[in-house]
Amino acid sequence: MSKISETLDPADWETHRTVAHQMVDDAIDYIRDVRSRPVWQEMPPQVRRQFNEAVPHAGTPLPKVYQQVMSEVFPYPMGNIHPRFWMWYMGASNFTGAMGDFLAAILGSNLGGGDHAAAEIDKQVVGWMKAMIGYPAEASGTLVSGGSMANLIGLTVARNVMSGIDLRNEGVGALSAPMRFYGSDQVHSCHRIAVEAMGLGNNALRRIPSDANCRMDLSA
Ligand SMILES: Cc1ncc(COP(=O)(O)O)c(C=O)c1O
Repeated sequence: MSKISETLDPADWETHRTVAHQMVDDAIDYIRDVRSRPVWQEMPPQVRRQFNEAVPHAGTPLPKVYQQVMSEVFPYPMGNIHPRFWMWYMGASNFTGAMGDFLAAILGSNLGGGDHAAAEIDKQVVGWMKAMIGYPAEASGTLVSGGSMANLIGLTVARNVMSGIDLRNEGVGALSAPMRFYGSDQVHSCHRIAVEAMGLGNNALRRIPSDANCRMDLSA
């Protein structure tokens, strides 16, 4: 009986170690020296063309992939980690956070349950959030990927609780009257995405006019 054994481990750990050390050095320089670079720069056509290449049928050695990332990706950022990026209010990256992301990926935890330290950190952080915003200890919570997911989950909970039916089992088709959400006409597009994904339709999000100071007209 043949036994097939496959692994995702690198064939050569020492090459990975060398590339990984180089990445850390480059990452520190990249963030430290951000002020000496332009916020943004146009991608030359020969760089842009790389992103239209067909699916590769053979692997590329890690040092080559890394060299491509450094020459074709890192010089052409969105710009939001630059102190002179004033276009939108996007969050910047952060070197300490990047190290945390790296370690979390190395651990590769599934936080759906289990008896392990990462799940305890997850619960602890949710507990801290509850304490910071004055939620009762018995409240539940979860960490999600960002604002869009947070609003989708929050509005879904509100929909389920306020529907007056067992909406999780019966679905939106069982509603006896359409549901409505109210927000200012300045709300982020993720709220539209949320009501659409919740099966309520974009018209369920009522945009209340706001004045020149972006204050919602409460009488409306
Ligand atoms: C006010 C506001 N809400 C929600 C979002 C969506 O957040 P995320 O990109 O984390 O999903 C954004 C994103 O820019 C935002 O500016």
